[in-house]
Amino acid sequence: MNLAIGSDHAGFNLKEAIRLYFERREHYFVDCGTFDPFERVDYPDYAKKVCETVLSGEASFGILVCGTGIGMSIAANKFAGIRAALAYFPDMAKLARAHNNANIIALGGRVMGEELAIWCVESFINTDFDGGRHQLRVEKLDRLAK
Ligand code: RB5
Repeated sequence: MNLAIGSDHAGFNLKEAIRLYFERREHYFVDCGTFDPFERVDYPDYAKKVCETVLSGEASFGILVCGTGIGMSIAANKFAGIRAALAYFPDMAKLARAHNNANIIALGGRVMGEELAIWCVESFINTDFDGGRHQLRVEKLDRLAK
């Protein structure tokens, strides 16, 4: 699967851990940065790059990491066509796909361990949208962004 990933300085270490783990399992990444954990950067800039990569179709899903995941999710949800979900537990990640058809997962590098974050990403990318009664709700969500 092609995935887009991006972080600010606070999310850099977790971004790298996630990327390495999934690259070893034959997933492909568009790494949108940041590439230097010692330079303070602004999370909206990286959210924008990942959102544009997902919206272009170059990646099936996006992964965004900042200190808490909150800033990244707020930024990503400004983009029409993006449904970004903050997920601290695998079930949140799973339901974000099944019910909300989320196309971006936001994670917190300062509040989550690597294993938990990887488990959340696994749950996210391996869950299909349920459709059915959730379809109309997601269409209404998307109309709010227009
Ligand atoms: C950076 O210090 C921090 O504010 C940022 O990574 C993020 O947690 C914002 O939501």
